[in-house]
Amino acid sequence: MPKISKKGSQMPESPIRKLVPYAEIAKKKGNKVYHLNIGQPDIKTPQVALDAVKNANIEVLEYSHSAGFESYREKLSKYYKNQNIPIDTQNIIITTGGSEALLFALGSTMDVDDEIIIPEPFYANYNGFSVASGVKVVPVISSIETGFSLPPIEDFEKLITPRTKAILICNPGNPTGYLYSEEEINQLAQIVIKHDLFLIADEVYREFTYDGFKHYSVMNVKGLENHAIMIDSVSKRFSMCGARIGCIVSKNTEVMAAAMKFAQARLSPPTYAQIASEAALDTPQSYFDEVIEEYKERRDILIEELLKIEGVQVATPKGAFYCIAKLPIKSANDFAQWLLESYDLDGETVMVAPAAGFYSSPNVGLDEVRIAYVLKKEDLVKSVKILKEAIKVYNKI
Ligand SMILES: Cc1ncc(COP(=O)(O)O)c(C=O)c1O
Repeated sequence: MPKISKKGSQMPESPIRKLVPYAEIAKKKGNKVYHLNIGQPDIKTPQVALDAVKNANIEVLEYSHSAGFESYREKLSKYYKNQNIPIDTQNIIITTGGSEALLFALGSTMDVDDEIIIPEPFYANYNGFSVASGVKVVPVISSIETGFSLPPIEDFEKLITPRTKAILICNPGNPTGYLYSEEEINQLAQIVIKHDLFLIADEVYREFTYDGFKHYSVMNVKGLENHAIMIDSVSKRFSMCGARIGCIVSKNTEVMAAAMKFAQARLSPPTYAQIASEAALDTPQSYFDEVIEEYKERRDILIEELLKIEGVQVATPKGAFYCIAKLPIKSANDFAQWLLESYDLDGETVMVAPAAGFYSSPNVGLDEVRIAYVLKKEDLVKSVKILKEAIKVYNKI
C-alpha cells in the first residue's frame, strides 16, 4: 500500500474536537453535554447579514475576484479606518476564514524548515497550519502565574536563529484571553524590526475586550508597515463561523503580491458568504455593546464559580471568550475523557478541551483545560458545578 506523507502523519489532531466520539457516547447514553470545549458562540448572527443572503438575486453563482469583492474590501477598509486602523482596500485580501489567511501568511513569508516563534499556549491549529506549511514552531512559554502576559523580550531573543522568519501572536488570545498592551506590542515591534522578522497578529477577537481595556493593533505601529501582517475573520465578530470569511491584511506590497498568488490558486472566497459579510458591516454598534456585555457577564460568573473550587487557578481574561483553568488533577486529558465516558451529575456532564494541545512544548499544561464561555450564564454555572463535583469523584478513583 502506498504510504501517506510525513506531513499527513505529523498533522496534529485538534484538541478541541478529538474528544467528540466520547461526547457522542455520552449523548447516546442520554446524558446532556455542556460544550465548553469549542468557541462556537450561541449569539445570533446579525439580521442584516442573514437578510442580505435571503434577498440576493443570483442566477449564476460565479467565482468572485480572487482578492474578494471590491465593494466588500472598500467597506472593510472604511470599517478599519473607523476603528483608527489605517488600512486601504489594496492592503486586504478576502480569504476563506481566518484559517486560510493564516495559511497564506505562512505560505507568503516562510520556507520549509523556517522557524516561527509563538507564545504558548496558543490557538491549537497554529500547529496544524505550521505542519501543512513545513514550518517549525518554536514556542516561548507564557504562564498562568503571570496571567499569560508577554514573555520577557529576552526570552524571544534567545530563540531567534538564522532560520527565524516571524513571530506570531494572537491578540486578544485564544486560549488565554490575554490582551497585549500597547507597550507589549511596541516591544514586539522593536524586536521584529531589529531582527528583520515578520510580526503576524491574529486579531480575530479584536472587538471582544472587557473592563475598559482597548485593543491595540499591530497595524497601528508606525515603522512596522513592512513587518506587520494582520489576520482577521467574521466568524466570531458577527457570530458567523459557518460563513468561512476572513482576510489577510498587510501594507507590505511584496507579501500581498505573494498572498495574491495563493489566493488565485484557490480561485475565490465563497460568494454568498461575502454577501453576508459585507452586509454584516452595517451591524449597529448596539449589537456589539449587547454582545460584549453578555460575554463580560459570562466571564465574571465563570471565573467567580471556578475560583470557588478548591485548588483551581485561573487567569481572568481581558478579551476573547476563553480561559485556561488549572485543575487539581494530574491529567486533564484523562479527566476530560472520563467526564464524557464515565461521569454525569443528574444526567448532565461537560466537555472541556485539555490544554496540553494548546502548547507545543511537551509535558506542559497537563493539568490545565481550556474553557470557552460561549454558553448562557445559567448553563455556565451548572457546568462549573458539574466540574466541581466531578473533580471530587475523579480524585477518589
Ligand atoms: C485565534 C483564532 N484564529 C483563527 C481562527 C479561525 O477562524 P476562522 O473561522 O475565521 O477560520 C480561530 C477560530 O476559532 C481562532 O480562535
